[in-house]
Amino acid sequence: MKIGIYGGSFNPPHLGHIRGAVYAKEKLGLDKLLLIPAGLPPHKELASGSPTARQRLEMVRLAAEGIPGVEISDMELLRPGKSYTYQTVEALREIYPGDELILIMGTDMYLCFENWTYPERIIAHCELAVLYRGEKGERQRLLEHREKIGYPCRFLENPVTDISSTQIRRMLRLGCAGEFLNEKVAAYIRANGLYRTGEDCRNLSEEALEETVVSLLAPSRVAHVLGCRDTAVALAKHYGADPTDAARAALLHDITKALDGPLQLTLAREHGIILDEFSAKHPKTLHALTGSWIAQHIFGENQAVVEAIRWHTTGKANMNLLEKIIYVADYMEPNRNFPGVDSLRELAWQDITQATRMGLEFTLEHLKNQGSEVSPESKQALQYLMDTGHGPA
Ligand SMILES: [Fe+2]
Ligand SMILES: [Fe+2]
Repeated sequence: MKIGIYGGSFNPPHLGHIRGAVYAKEKLGLDKLLLIPAGLPPHKELASGSPTARQRLEMVRLAAEGIPGVEISDMELLRPGKSYTYQTVEALREIYPGDELILIMGTDMYLCFENWTYPERIIAHCELAVLYRGEKGERQRLLEHREKIGYPCRFLENPVTDISSTQIRRMLRLGCAGEFLNEKVAAYIRANGLYRTGEDCRNLSEEALEETVVSLLAPSRVAHVLGCRDTAVALAKHYGADPTDAARAALLHDITKALDGPLQLTLAREHGIILDEFSAKHPKTLHALTGSWIAQHIFGENQAVVEAIRWHTTGKANMNLLEKIIYVADYMEPNRNFPGVDSLRELAWQDITQATRMGLEFTLEHLKNQGSEVSPESKQALQYLMDTGHGPA
């Protein structure tokens, strides 16, 4: 019998996992495919709302229910300590002494396979198969790596759209991810409040809002958002705007930025957010629209905060004080570093409208150099400032 072994955290198991596994099963002609959720290292602190090992096992069971030839194994969850693959493979060899075993993994895992614990003890019992995404140069890298490490391995190009579990967890917190999850898994997550899905994010204190926002951002964006919040609050106090609105708008302004273009579109589709023509064509600017929707509907923020988030990327004609503050704070917060940022910082404390105009000009210049299209709102914003006597001094 030919048996495939497919392990992972499955946190949560999504359609990408299952469809990829089924594809590998067919391509490799497997009689049986074992899905083996990994135990998590005992020293690792799990974030609140994280599922237990048993809950992950249950989700994998639900995800694979009814798929012929697919079985779930709890062997790694039952084994105390870290999940080492060589132990799993040796245990499976005892259960299936005369069968052919194939260990299935993704590109990233394969490219460091020689650094796993006892790779030769794995190879002694099974063949390797890599499910790769087909990115540019990926197959070549895999071939070179096979040459270098010398272990036999088969490569299968995975036709299934790839999505990471981290992104799924973010999408779940933002009220969607339905289309990436099996219905039963999605229902189980909701029923058990996993990944903080049951949490009411409306009317959070500023402290709780900051904690929630940080948990949703890509780690590399946290300093920018907190810097933007501090700058926006200081500008609000300087110009007599509401510092609380400024803090909340700045904290939430990039709330959906960790999602790439296709995920932005998915978010918009699942929530029924209507796209304007420019946003639909330029998913990079879409986070201002989706972020403002999330701020309103998930976080229950007021209209002033929602509008400031909506226009933080492109600007628009006749911006109000808070909108200008968020636009400028995003540009000048302490982590920003580009030619001209110091002039913008200086101007921001003298005349927020002139600083907004300078920011718009930077944007237009940058887009022109990149050969990218300028949004109609940015053009109108600049034209409005020129028409109302806010051209360059
Ligand atoms: Fe942004
Ligand atoms: Fe930003």
